[in-house]
Amino acid sequence: MQQHLSWQETIHRALSVHRDIPSSRFLQLATVDIHGHPHCRTLVFRGFDQDKNQLYLHTDKRSEKIAQLESNNQVETCWYFSETREQFRIKGQIECIGHLDAAMEQPTSRSKQQLRLAHWQNLSDALRESYGPNYSHAQPDENFTLLIVHITQVDYLRLAPLPHLRLLYSLDEQGKWQTKAGIP
Ligand SMILES: Cc1cc2nc3c(=O)[nH]c(=O)nc-3n(C[C@H](O)[C@H](O)[C@H](O)COP(=O)(O)O)c2cc1C
Repeated sequence: MQQHLSWQETIHRALSVHRDIPSSRFLQLATVDIHGHPHCRTLVFRGFDQDKNQLYLHTDKRSEKIAQLESNNQVETCWYFSETREQFRIKGQIECIGHLDAAMEQPTSRSKQQLRLAHWQNLSDALRESYGPNYSHAQPDENFTLLIVHITQVDYLRLAPLPHLRLLYSLDEQGKWQTKAGIP
């Protein structure tokens, strides 16, 4: 197959082209409830750790998606970049990092709470207030939940220039990304 950029490089390029278009940071997150019914809603992209194949989102623990994720953590996000006419469908499992993690004494859990704190401290005051009126900068509100999408597949579609290009990236058992051409 012809050599293509990695999905990480392609998304970086798209984010850079769209850096002055705030709506390009909105993506759709689909979850499934206990009856198998899909639910899809818009969320703000809050960053990547591409070495760890992680994408970050924020939500409120009182939202319905949290109950859906507790019963089924498989998700797909769909992200469209209007200027480059690119769509990324990112699949994976979500880990919810909320208040007082049950396994707080574990070092991995402590480092995730540190990450949650860093995300909290990065928010504007107005956004912090949306989780609860008596918020503190030093301590995340108990409703504030960091969602970590552990990415296992990326389905990429580029509509321009013609011809359309579709690439399916998937993480193999050795943790390496494999790329296949798909039907656009
Ligand atoms: C532009 C836009 C950005 C949004 N960003 C977020 C977000 O970052 N986190 C979030 O939980 N909800 C966000 N929402 C609200 C969600 O779309 C949704 O209404 C809410 O999370 C409740 O969803 P649920 O009942 O399925 O849990 C956003 C909505 C819009 C229109």
